[in-house]
Amino acid sequence: MAAPIFVLCENADDLAGRAADYIVQSAREAIAERGRFTLVLSGGSTPEKTYSLLAEPARLTAIDWARVSVFFGDERFVPADDPRSNFAMARRALLARVPLPTAQVFSVPTQAESPAACAAAYAAALARCFATTPSSAPPRFDLILLGMGEDGHIASLFPAAAALDVVDAWVTWSPPGRLPPPVDRITLTYPVLNAARRVAFLIAGANKAVALQEVVERHAAREHRPAAGVQVAEGLLTWFVDRDAARLLQQK
Ligand code: 6PG
Repeated sequence: MAAPIFVLCENADDLAGRAADYIVQSAREAIAERGRFTLVLSGGSTPEKTYSLLAEPARLTAIDWARVSVFFGDERFVPADDPRSNFAMARRALLARVPLPTAQVFSVPTQAESPAACAAAYAAALARCFATTPSSAPPRFDLILLGMGEDGHIASLFPAAAALDVVDAWVTWSPPGRLPPPVDRITLTYPVLNAARRVAFLIAGANKAVALQEVVERHAAREHRPAAGVQVAEGLLTWFVDRDAARLLQQK
């Protein structure tokens, strides 16, 4: 496993620009090497500025969007037009602003009768996209973007949650964590996250500093800080962190 890369950013805006450039670089390399780029978006608030920058002319024209497929690392069990929806945020900031074929946007279906049914439906959609079956080895995404909550959660893998231990499914569901919004979630599982060619964390804000130090320097258990469970076996892990989030780190 390659050593993680740390990109120390001045502030959230600097982080957004550097992360956007990394996504452009990753897209160009994946398309050159394999003819397509499979990108998993994170929800939350931090990545919104990054997504918006990707839709602006300089970066927009640097990506061959016809060869891009977009997925979601997790989703809230709410309608797609609900303001709490991660898809709604990505559509507003990015998807409605770039020439990405709608058939290449794989949002998490949230209209099924339960989050468990949504998780199974999403796994089936991923299997179709990767021409495999949900019982096979997890798909290998080119780049998975992750945020981190102040409790160390990633996607919708929350501390002490049963979803942390799901290793026989690509997608599972979880009741709400401690942090808002208090709705059930659908989330990719660790086997999928750790199979990625690249994973990039986007972490900004002083409220992330304690969890980040525990994950990066204190070897926290993933049950306590789920970000610690991201161990990209045969890929590259990059941490985009701003100075506020990194303030407790010895290594800067
Ligand atoms: C979600 C996200 C979640 C997010 C973290 C950090 O559905 O909310 O997937 O995992 O990345 O909560 O969110 P912020 O970037 O807003 O701090």
